[in-house]
Amino acid sequence: MNNYESTIKFWDKRFGKILSTDKRYDPSKPMTIIEIEEGLRWLINETDSIIDFGCGTGNILFRSLFLGTKKAIGIDISRRAIELANDTSITNKMDTKTDFKIGGVELLKKIEDNSIEVGASFNTIDNILPDDAVFVLQEMNRILKNNGKLLIKLNDVIPKKVFDEDDYFQLISENFYKEKSGLYFWNLSDSIFKEIINPYFELVKYVDVPFQKTNYKNRLYYLENRK
Ligand SMILES: C[S@@+](CC[C@H](N)C(=O)[O-])C[C@H]1O[C@@H](n2cnc3c(N)ncnc32)[C@H](O)[C@@H]1O
Repeated sequence: MNNYESTIKFWDKRFGKILSTDKRYDPSKPMTIIEIEEGLRWLINETDSIIDFGCGTGNILFRSLFLGTKKAIGIDISRRAIELANDTSITNKMDTKTDFKIGGVELLKKIEDNSIEVGASFNTIDNILPDDAVFVLQEMNRILKNNGKLLIKLNDVIPKKVFDEDDYFQLISENFYKEKSGLYFWNLSDSIFKEIINPYFELVKYVDVPFQKTNYKNRLYYLENRK
């Protein structure tokens, strides 16, 4: 059985709705969240190639291409996300520079060692199985060139009492849940994340990405490959 059936269903529905409109991302506009625009500029400074795991609509890749990156690879398990990304790529005449692939972590194995300069993965590795998340980081270490950079954005950590009080989250294993939405959620603490990345990447900067008018935030990790 595919472990990600309900994940695919969730995201296909979400991206399918956008596909049915004519709303497409305009890469000439800076990312709306300033911390993301700044992180991206650090990531792609004078680099030719980028890979995004769990790329969704591909916005990060399109913005990178607009800012001068020459080649962008996006991987996403949602067929609709990739359809939308390909459509946006054509709309913006960027399709000779993009390579969008439908699938999960297994696709990383097909990419050559030291072949890409920088990588990104936003709000994905804490929504997949923990073993797969660790695999993504190992593979990024292998695929990215010497001193290659990686920008990872994680969801916020949720206080334990929320899980105790709320049946929205079904516990699967320690700190790992399946939401009623069908998505997985790994309540990945900062210290566990640092332990996981440590063999592969050095943490060079950390930034909070606050959400306006809520107490919720995302966490942005600037990483450099240990090779
Ligand atoms: C929260 S969205 C983030 C999308 C994009 N990175 C962004 O920040 O806008 C998570 C994305 O991860 C993708 N995804 C979830 N599980 C995946 C898996 N096992 N392999 C590849 N992509 C996956 C989903 O289809 C979805 O597009």
